[in-house]
Amino acid sequence: MERILIMISGRGSNMKAIIKNVKDGILKGLCEVMVVFSNKKDAAGLEIAESFGIETKIIGSKGKKRSTYNKLLFDYLDKLNPDYIILAGYMKIVSSDVIQRFRNRIINIHPADTALHQGLHGYEWAFENKMESTKITVHFVDEGLDTGNVIGKRDVDISDCKTLDEVEQRGLKVEHQFYSECLQKIFSENI
Ligand code: GAR
Repeated sequence: MERILIMISGRGSNMKAIIKNVKDGILKGLCEVMVVFSNKKDAAGLEIAESFGIETKIIGSKGKKRSTYNKLLFDYLDKLNPDYIILAGYMKIVSSDVIQRFRNRIINIHPADTALHQGLHGYEWAFENKMESTKITVHFVDEGLDTGNVIGKRDVDISDCKTLDEVEQRGLKVEHQFYSECLQKIFSENI
């Protein structure tokens, strides 16, 4: 049974989908959620995590020097020692000491094909480029920006989406299903 920590910065809809799958879906028996972590104290996902009875931890990044925040976070993660760190809308760069400490144990979901688009605003990028379809990528986190080894990619047909909101809704629906499928694959291979 893998012990996972989920990291968020906001809404937490991917986190919620994972928690539901751990409780009663395809991740049941494969992992347990130790803590939901946020770098923002007002992240909406924190309340959702608490409503599922999951412990939350906040280390606010706002107003702190990056090095101060990174040191606090490293010390926290080092001591907690989760088997996997699952990024779910965590909007900060993970420092290299955390990546080294948890090599191949940090997983991220990206709302685009990481080979074509890195960084923020993946859905805006697909919408503005009038793409017929885009991809969701689940990948390991390495020192680069969205350059880590790919665990899986899934197509999202957005050919009939007229607004950015529609693109996002379509993509998120896929994210919520696909992220847990990728975690299921990783965690079952490790048993
Ligand atoms: C998701 O679309 C996720 O793929 C994206 O942020 C959103 C978080 O939503 N992540 C990135 O852009 C990372 N580069 P959520 O908080 O509702 O899960």
